[in-house]
Amino acid sequence: MGEQVVTPYSVSARNGGVDYARIVSDFGCKLIDPQLIQRLEKLTNKPAHPFLRRGIFFAHRDLESILDAYEQGHKFFLYTGRGPSSESLHLGHLVQFMFTKYLQDAFDVPLVIQLSDDEKFIWKDISQEECQRLGRNNAKDIISCGFRLERTFIFSNLDYVSGALFDNVLTISSFLSINAMSAVFGLNAETDVLGKLLYPAVQIAPAFSTSFNDVFGEGIKMRCLIPCAIDQDPYFRLSRDLAPRLKLYKPALIESRFLPSIQAGDDSGKMSASSPNSAIFVTDTLEEIKQKLAGAAVESVLAYFTFFEENDAVLEEMKADFSSGKRSLEDLKNDLSKALWEVLENLQQLKAEVDDKILSEFMRPRLIR
Ligand code: TRP
Repeated sequence: MGEQVVTPYSVSARNGGVDYARIVSDFGCKLIDPQLIQRLEKLTNKPAHPFLRRGIFFAHRDLESILDAYEQGHKFFLYTGRGPSSESLHLGHLVQFMFTKYLQDAFDVPLVIQLSDDEKFIWKDISQEECQRLGRNNAKDIISCGFRLERTFIFSNLDYVSGALFDNVLTISSFLSINAMSAVFGLNAETDVLGKLLYPAVQIAPAFSTSFNDVFGEGIKMRCLIPCAIDQDPYFRLSRDLAPRLKLYKPALIESRFLPSIQAGDDSGKMSASSPNSAIFVTDTLEEIKQKLAGAAVESVLAYFTFFEENDAVLEEMKADFSSGKRSLEDLKNDLSKALWEVLENLQQLKAEVDDKILSEFMRPRLIR
């Protein structure tokens, strides 16, 4: 039974799953409490997303300041991203993008989405061309979540890192010591290649509005809110440390738990695109979903309901019936297949309409503020 390790590069829990209280205290972020959720509901005039009510997005940094500023009429922008390592997204990625879409609608704010094809080129054994192709394909899945073209800019690092964004990457890299990289990411002189040490600056830079002259306007200073899974926190902890030296706002974060793998209880406890059997992909058919769920652990089945059954009453009834024995695990898996298929079928229909032309529109630098 090893120590719990959570970094952007590996998540391994001890028996009994990821200890989230421990992550929050190790990382130094804060739990989202009911008062904060209420405040968010009041400000947006909308019920909180089920992911918030159910503690799936459970931690934050400085969300209060974003809300304070918003209350005073200052807009912010959203920044999130995807490392394209597989042909399509899986349900875990969907959590991040469904929630981001809710935030974009609730606050009516611009959104930038980074496709870190450079990251996957450096870390995985995949060519640059292939990473870029996967990124474009993933972007179609992302667009199918319903993002608004006038408010959304999706960029490939391999394409877009230049100009103002590269200026910030370079400035950030000039402030990051190898010691910091070692303390935060475990990257150091023993790391096999230089690219791994440079990449964090590329993921940090988009958290600053001045990286996007052509998207927000020249030199515009705007606050940033980053919805992401908690394993990405280390990057943005650094971005917050650097902000004063850049004379820019500290980025705020809203952070989620991991969607468990189908066979939860395995080491990582996290759905992962690199182990296809642990994951349900957005391209899966109803048959594939059923097959994959056949071997699913009870905790995973219950977790997937909690993540994807939007109706609170249905969720409670299902749980009660399961614990009383009125419904078997088989019944649950059946219901779950249907519920998941409903989500995916809808997405697949929307994706069928996202052609290369629409994709290019989303990826064209233009004002979205
Ligand atoms: N590193 C992330 C991954 O491997 C991708 C990513 C890039 C990202 N920029 C981001 C995630 C900003 C969240 C927020 O998937």
